[in-house]
Amino acid sequence: MSELLIYGGKPLIGSVKVSGAKNSVLKLMAASLLTKEPCILKNVPNLIDVQKMLSLLTDLGTEAKWIAPGSLYLCTPNGLNYYGSERLMREMRASILILGPLLARAKKAHVYYPGGCAIGPRPIDLHLKALEALGAKVEQEQGGVLFLQANGGLRGNRIYFDFPSVGATENLMMAAVFAKGRTTIENAAKEPEIVELQKFLNNLGANIHGAGTDTIVIEGVKELKGAEYTVVSDRIEAGTFLLAGAITQGTVKVYGARADHNEALLYKLQEAGCKIDIGPSYVEVKGSKHIEPLRIRTMPYPGFPTDLQPLITALLTLAEGTSLVTETVFPDRFKYTHELTRLGAKICIEGECAIVKGVAKLKGAKVEAFDLRGGAALVIAALAASGESRVSQLEHLDRGYEKFSEKIASLGAIVERQN
Ligand code: EPZ
Repeated sequence: MSELLIYGGKPLIGSVKVSGAKNSVLKLMAASLLTKEPCILKNVPNLIDVQKMLSLLTDLGTEAKWIAPGSLYLCTPNGLNYYGSERLMREMRASILILGPLLARAKKAHVYYPGGCAIGPRPIDLHLKALEALGAKVEQEQGGVLFLQANGGLRGNRIYFDFPSVGATENLMMAAVFAKGRTTIENAAKEPEIVELQKFLNNLGANIHGAGTDTIVIEGVKELKGAEYTVVSDRIEAGTFLLAGAITQGTVKVYGARADHNEALLYKLQEAGCKIDIGPSYVEVKGSKHIEPLRIRTMPYPGFPTDLQPLITALLTLAEGTSLVTETVFPDRFKYTHELTRLGAKICIEGECAIVKGVAKLKGAKVEAFDLRGGAALVIAALAASGESRVSQLEHLDRGYEKFSEKIASLGAIVERQN
């Protein structure tokens, strides 16, 4: 079990560069299954989830190798296997993203219900309903096994999502690439990762437009070729460093942070009293001694991202007044708040709301990460807390942050990783 030892109470000062986005690269990797030609992905973060996705693809027949630091070669020639590994699928939510490409290319998929972070129920009904609307036959067997087939190939259709699910939108975009005719997705997710997936698929020769809006249209094509693509920078990692700067009353310049991908956060940081400077290739935050309390409501993009909810809640523990944080996307995403109280935070959970009563100081303590973003919230809170803290179960952070402890140490944090 890995732990991070943190001697907090020191402002973070300096600059840091964000890595490629986890929640984009995993989808691009899955999309590479759609072509038998080579794909080269650049700016790929070396994360546990990326390694797991690589193993999953390798099992399906992909030839994968790192050809330079951050550059991944992926090629899936003919003879694609359509059995997803049970172990890997149960370990990672994004594994369900192989479903669309497998159905599109192999016309069948034998997969398992995916696992992932413990942040509440994560059904896949929207994925399955949409794939059925394209003509896939879905059989659910005992033990979480799913068998899907589309013998004559998929056919375009109009699909309306009851909720703009990121994963379901992505799965459907990939499934529909070779479907006969036109597929229209209404109430589609609008996250930047959806726009990236459209760009990548179109580079491969797909015909998709509308990503970033409520309506995405996919015109079926016969086949895809290979392409080289650079992964967009990680907006959640960028937000994490901006919030780490804010909570420690430091000054942190985050290279690679895209203001247009983080507008909701930047508004809220300014409302809290922080100063934001937006440059051509960076966003800089200057923390304030006086944090104003906020009202936060997580929403699908461009609303406030659920993935930054734990991190902004950490900041609000030090606000001068009471904040209200409402989580509308993942109902169980408040587990970390109990750990924050060990650091001296005053938080009370009522249904989907966290009532955060600001305190003057946080104090070091031993805490445990239960999931990726909740774990990151504990680290930034510990950076602001006086004295020594230990954050255990660091493995959760390794799933989604590349060289996290090295990066915060480069900003002056006194941290020591113990494996
Ligand atoms: C993606 O998960 C991200 N994961 C999550 O990042 C992120 O929190 C989430 O989008 C929302 O932005 C990846 O990209 C790998 P959803 P995803 O489908 O696609 C419900 C992180 O920390 N729903 O948009 O699984 C679902 O239960 C993570 O990096 C259904 O009801 O999210 C949830 O309440 C964690 N049925 C809501 O929709 C479905 O079939 C949003 O889920 C699918 C989803």
